[in-house]
Amino acid sequence: MNLPVSEIGRNSVPVDAAPAIEVQNLVKAFYDVAGDRITLATTDVNFTVRRGEFVCIVGPSGCGKTTVLRILAGLEQLLSGHVRIDSTTPPAMVFQEASVLPWLTVAQNVAFPLSLKGVPRQKQRERVSELLALTGLTDFADARPHQLSGGMKQRVSVARALVDDRDILLMDEPFGALDEQTRLTLQQELLRIWERTGKTVVFITHSVDEALTLADRVLVMSPRPGTIVADLAVPFGRPRDVVEMRRDKRFWDLTYEVWRLLATSPER
Ligand SMILES: Nc1ncnc2c1ncn2[C@@H]1O[C@H](COP(=O)(O)OP(=O)(O)OP(=O)(O)O)[C@@H](O)[C@H]1O
Ligand SMILES: [Mg+2]
Repeated sequence: MNLPVSEIGRNSVPVDAAPAIEVQNLVKAFYDVAGDRITLATTDVNFTVRRGEFVCIVGPSGCGKTTVLRILAGLEQLLSGHVRIDSTTPPAMVFQEASVLPWLTVAQNVAFPLSLKGVPRQKQRERVSELLALTGLTDFADARPHQLSGGMKQRVSVARALVDDRDILLMDEPFGALDEQTRLTLQQELLRIWERTGKTVVFITHSVDEALTLADRVLVMSPRPGTIVADLAVPFGRPRDVVEMRRDKRFWDLTYEVWRLLATSPER
């Protein structure tokens, strides 16, 4: 079962676009090592993401957001339900904790997926320098991760996820550790990349503001065991100006609606 998309707004992706991701009745439980304690992380999660759509997931800490994303990335087994990914390339993932390889430079970290594929050096260099410019890391190409701030490491992770142009991008609070201004810049850059490339994006965030800034649809999860309690369409057209849209009353009405849902969805 899929919850109806709210009437609040229109979607920028055609309603008949093919699904890139389908999740049905997803249940995930974790067992401890001895197998005598079970944590039910999510229950009966249902949603579809159409090709080219930008979907954000918000929900309280521990409700299973990362778990859902890891299942989409093929990093966790589900207990029951169905997950279907329709894509020619495996999804790229940006993890919640910046995951950089400490022995490689920034440029080598970003190039890593390309070097695994055996892409010629010159092509790697060109692509990496594009991504470093995009994420504001050009001056740190030869730095090692221990010389970077937390936010810079996170930008390396974002650059690496974009470098080999996968169809589906799974992002787990990628801008959580960034200061407000860098976050706004990267949000705008991400939107620009997404608009240009037509990638399908599933983006987890704690920030209602960020979700409304970026998404076509916002999925709201209940506390653990998480399930989707609302599927809200975000009415703003594309391309979006992440600063200007804050002057729009609809932005604040939707903010209130999501907060209300987060505040009223019961512990189960
Ligand atoms: N590998 C694991 N082993 C055991 N329990 C786990 C494991 N990973 C997650 N959990 C449990 O599953 C539940 C959901 O965790 P998850 O990391 O998906 O939450 P989240 O919504 O991403 O939280 P946050 O917003 O804090 O990142 C939590 O209760 C957590 O303790
Ligand atoms: Mg998480």
